[in-house]
Amino acid sequence: MQMGILGSGLMGGKLGTIFARAGHEVVFSYARSEEKLKRLAKDSKGKSRPGTPREAAQDADAVLLAVHWSRFDDVLQQAGDLSGKTILTCSLPMNDDNTDLVVAHTASGAEELAKRVPRARIVSAFNTVPSEVLFGVFEARRKSTRPSLVYCGDDSSSKEIAAQLIRDVGFEPVDAGPLRISRYTEPFALLVAQLAYEGEAGPEMAYRFEWLGR
Ligand SMILES: NC(=O)c1ccc[n+]([C@@H]2O[C@H](COP(=O)([O-])OP(=O)(O)OC[C@H]3O[C@@H](n4cnc5c(N)ncnc54)[C@H](OP(=O)(O)O)[C@@H]3O)[C@@H](O)[C@H]2O)c1
Repeated sequence: MQMGILGSGLMGGKLGTIFARAGHEVVFSYARSEEKLKRLAKDSKGKSRPGTPREAAQDADAVLLAVHWSRFDDVLQQAGDLSGKTILTCSLPMNDDNTDLVVAHTASGAEELAKRVPRARIVSAFNTVPSEVLFGVFEARRKSTRPSLVYCGDDSSSKEIAAQLIRDVGFEPVDAGPLRISRYTEPFALLVAQLAYEGEAGPEMAYRFEWLGR
């Protein structure tokens, strides 16, 4: 697939690199320096290149939205018309000092995004894992037991794309249902982050939650 990365930081940079290594064509966009985008494209060693948000989005089969909540309007405006596009969002609706969700319980960042780009197909995915575990999960992808990763959305074909990408990274995709389920997964993601960084188990504990389900 052709993947557009909107936000090439910890999540976008790593996931874009993994998508490229898994064989997808990746356009890295939206960082504060062009040099960084060039370096990501070079280091990912796949079919990838740097570009503007508009270039990342225009021919993409799917785009990954990986920016801080405060950058949503800016990056969406730079990306242009996203009608009909599959947007995977790993972004969480965090306040400026990243201590709390600014949208929670009765709605979610993913649902707000769906309101802002009503003709796009939104899937919430990858926000329940800290970026630190992504390369490790990718490297262990051929092991028989794969960590689970929940995703949700309203459009079935976009969810198939998301499930494939989740598998490509090395997780077992778990369909949590419609996009409104992100009201529960986003606070869960915040809990995971708090436990991962403040608890003793470290970032890997993010996907150990699957043990609870067994
Ligand atoms: N990090 C995690 O483990 C994690 C886990 C789950 C969910 N999330 C969510 O994923 C989203 C992205 O998180 P992240 O940790 O990847 O953030 P990040 O590392 O700060 O990446 C954000 C990207 O946006 C770019 N950016 C910021 N301001 C910009 C501007 N004015 N102009 C152009 N580019 C700009 C940054 O540029 P630079 O590269 O130049 O800094 C960076 O590439 C957030 O919503 C976060 O809540 C993160």
